[in-house]
Amino acid sequence: MSYVIRDAVPADLPAIRDIYNDAVLNTLAIWNEQTVDLDNRQQWFNARQAQGYPVLVIVDDANIALGYASFGDWRPFEGFRHTVEHSVYVHPEQRGKRLGPQLLTELIKRARACDKHVMVAAIESANAASIHVHKQLGFVTSGRMPQVGIKFGRWLDLTFMQLMLNPGALPPKECAE
Ligand SMILES: CC(C)(COP(=O)(O)OP(=O)(O)OC[C@H]1O[C@@H](n2cnc3c(N)ncnc32)[C@H](O)[C@@H]1OP(=O)(O)O)[C@@H](O)C(=O)NCCC(=O)NCCS
Repeated sequence: MSYVIRDAVPADLPAIRDIYNDAVLNTLAIWNEQTVDLDNRQQWFNARQAQGYPVLVIVDDANIALGYASFGDWRPFEGFRHTVEHSVYVHPEQRGKRLGPQLLTELIKRARACDKHVMVAAIESANAASIHVHKQLGFVTSGRMPQVGIKFGRWLDLTFMQLMLNPGALPPKECAE
C-alpha cells in the first residue's frame, strides 16, 4: 500500500467527518461529546481555507482519506498571530502505521511556509501515543493543566507541547513597526 499526503478537497469531508466523529465517540482526544454533520465540517473547511491554513489528508491507493491534520490560530488575539494549534487524527483501523507522524511532518513544513514561529499541541495527558509521536518530532512539554476538562464523567488533564519552528529567529519586521 502506498500513501500520499495532499491538500483536502470537499470530496474528502465525509471521510474527515467520520474520523472526527469516531474520535468524539470513542476517545479523549476531542473534548466534545456531540458528533458533527457534513455541513459542520464544510464550514470548518471553509474557515481554514479563508485563513490560508492547510487541511491535509493522507490517502491510500483508492484516494480515500485515512487521516487528516490541520492548524488554526492558537488564541484569537493579534499578538498570538505567529502561533498555531494543530490537530491530527488517523482512522482507528489505520493507527500504528506512522500515518500520523507523516501528516505532522508535512504540517510542520506548511506552518513554516505560513511564517509561523510556534506550533502548539494540546493533548489529553494520558494520550501516550500522541505524546510519543510529538516528542519524536521534536515537540517539548511546556505545561500540564490538571482537571481543566471533563468527558465521559471524568476530569481530564491537558498537556501542552510546543515546537519552535525557527529557533533563534528575531521577530519579523512588520509594516506597523
Ligand atoms: C495519535 C495518532 C495521531 C498517532 O498516529 P499514528 O499514525 O497511529 O502514529 P504511529 O503509527 O507513529 O503510532 C503511534 C506511536 O505511539 C506509540 N504508542 C502507542 N501507544 C503508546 C503508549 N501507551 N505509550 C507509549 N507509546 C505509545 C507507538 O508505539 C507508536 O510509536 P513507534 O512507532 O515509535 O513504536 C493516532 O493514534 C490517532 O489518531 N489517535 C486518536 C486521535 C488523537 O489522539 N489525536 C491526537 C490528538 S492530540
